[in-house]
Amino acid sequence: MDVITRPEEMAARSRQIRQQGRRIGFVPTMGFFHEGHLALMRMAARHADVVVVSLFVNPIQFGENEDLDCYPSNWQRDCNLAEQEDVAILFAPDRGAMYPDDFKTTVSVAQLPRYLCGADRPGHFDGVTTVVCKLFNLIRPHAAVFGEKDYQQLAIIRQMVRDLNMGVDILAHPIVREPDGLAMSSRNSYLDKELRKSALSLSRAARLARQRFADGERDTGVLARELTKYIQGYPAARINYISFVDSRTLAPVEHADENTLLALAVTIGGKVRLIDNTLLAGTD
Ligand code: PAJ
Repeated sequence: MDVITRPEEMAARSRQIRQQGRRIGFVPTMGFFHEGHLALMRMAARHADVVVVSLFVNPIQFGENEDLDCYPSNWQRDCNLAEQEDVAILFAPDRGAMYPDDFKTTVSVAQLPRYLCGADRPGHFDGVTTVVCKLFNLIRPHAAVFGEKDYQQLAIIRQMVRDLNMGVDILAHPIVREPDGLAMSSRNSYLDKELRKSALSLSRAARLARQRFADGERDTGVLARELTKYIQGYPAARINYISFVDSRTLAPVEHADENTLLALAVTIGGKVRLIDNTLLAGTD
C-alpha cells in the first residue's frame, strides 16, 4: 500500500491509473477504522481494480463546539488495517494542503441539508460536500462507497453528483453493527461501560419502531411519542431528534409507508452524539 500526502501526487497517480484503463474505487473516511469502514473498502474492491481510501479529518464539517480537536485517531493501526484490505493507496493530506489560507469555495446542496442532522449542525453538510468534491477531483474515482449509517450524507452526495454531472457511481453500504445492535462509529470509542449501555437506546428504539410498523401503526406522531418515552428510559440519553422522513426526499411524513425512514440522533452522557436509522418496513 502506498501512502500519499500531497494532493498533486494523488492527482498524478490517479491519472496514471486511469490511463492504464483500470477502475478506481474510492472510500472517503476520517480514519479510526472499524469494521464499517473495512466493509466499505471491501465493497470498493468488488467494484474496481484499484482501491483508494482517504483519511482526512475535515475541519470545515465540524461545528465550533464539536469534537474536531479530540477526534479519535490511530495512524499506525489504520495503516495496518487498510493494508490488510488490499487498499492500494491511502491518501492522507494535511489540512494546509487541502485548505490553503486563500481557500474560498463552498460546494453546497440546497434543501436536503435542512432536515435531520443538518438542522442540528449548521454548515456541516456544506463542509462534507466541499471536501468530497475536492477528493473526487483529485482521485477521479469511477465509483465511491458511502455508508447508509450517514443516510443524509449519502443522499446529499448523490444529489451533488447528479446535479454537477460528476460521473462517479455512488454505492451504498448497509449499516454495520456490533453484535448487540449498536451501529459502529469511530465516536463509540468515547463511551465508557455505563454510557455504552445507554447507546443501545438508538438501535433498540429503531427495532421497536419496526415492530410497531409491522403491527400496523402508521401515525408517525404516535410512533415519535412512543420512541421518545422509550429512549428517555435510558438515563444518559438525550434526544436530538426522532424523525420520520421519506427515504427519497428526506421530507418529514405524517403517515408512514414502506418508504418511510426513521432517523435518530441521541446524545449520550452529554457529549457523545450518535446517529442511527432504519426503514420502518426493513428488517434491520
Ligand atoms: P467517517 O465518519 O469516517 O465515515 C466514513 C464512511 O464510513 C462514511 O461513508 C460512513 O457512512 C461510513 N460508515 C461509518 N460507520 C459505518 C457503519 N457502522 N456502517 C456502515 N458504514 C459506516 O463520513 C465521514 O467520515 C465524512 O463525513 C467524510 C465522508 C469522509 C467526509 O469528510
